[in-house]
Amino acid sequence: MPAARWSPEVGNMNSFVYESSDESATATLGAALAEVLPDGCTVALCGTLGAGKTRLVQAIASADGVDPRTVVSPTFMLVQEYQGRRPIYHLDAYRLADEDEFDALGPDEYFDGVGLTLVEWADRVAASLPRDRIEINIEVIGPEARRFTIIAIGGRYADIIERLRARL
Ligand SMILES: Nc1ncnc2c1ncn2[C@@H]1O[C@H](COP(=O)(O)OP(=O)(O)OP(=O)(O)O)[C@@H](O)[C@H]1O
Ligand SMILES: [Mg+2]
Repeated sequence: MPAARWSPEVGNMNSFVYESSDESATATLGAALAEVLPDGCTVALCGTLGAGKTRLVQAIASADGVDPRTVVSPTFMLVQEYQGRRPIYHLDAYRLADEDEFDALGPDEYFDGVGLTLVEWADRVAASLPRDRIEINIEVIGPEARRFTIIAIGGRYADIIERLRARL
């Protein structure tokens, strides 16, 4: 089977577009995601520098009971763990030389765990991600405006998109 690709071309997906006008609207999206994302789910985040990947992780973690001040890009640690109502694993592939370096972190331990795993720059390590996952692509459409395209890849999370739509 070919490795799953990062793109909306993936066949069995459905998607939801959320246009955020400012950071508080992004916080609203994060809170809705925290409600609908099940334990053990992996979220792949993609978008340019400063798009809002870390900001969205902060919003999700905060809604799960984590102090948002502790949520920063795991630049040097590569992986950070927060304890809210469930563990949250925050990974960032930006500084990795290649996908082998990502695999050396033992990411399956996070993907297979009961926590929520959030991966920044996930498009750089797409082949190492679980087949079933949520992908979120963030586009900068204004100084404070962001477009979030949320895609369920694989069958396991197909219902998440409808549940998210119902909450927003
Ligand atoms: N609507 C919005 N949603 C999210 N962030 C916003 C919004 N409007 C402005 N911002 C700003 O955009 C920036 C997003 O930074 P953030 O660190 O989350 O980006 P990132 O995608 O994680 O970048 P990097 O690739 O460097 O890790 C912050 O400075 C934030 O204040
Ligand atoms: Mg970041």
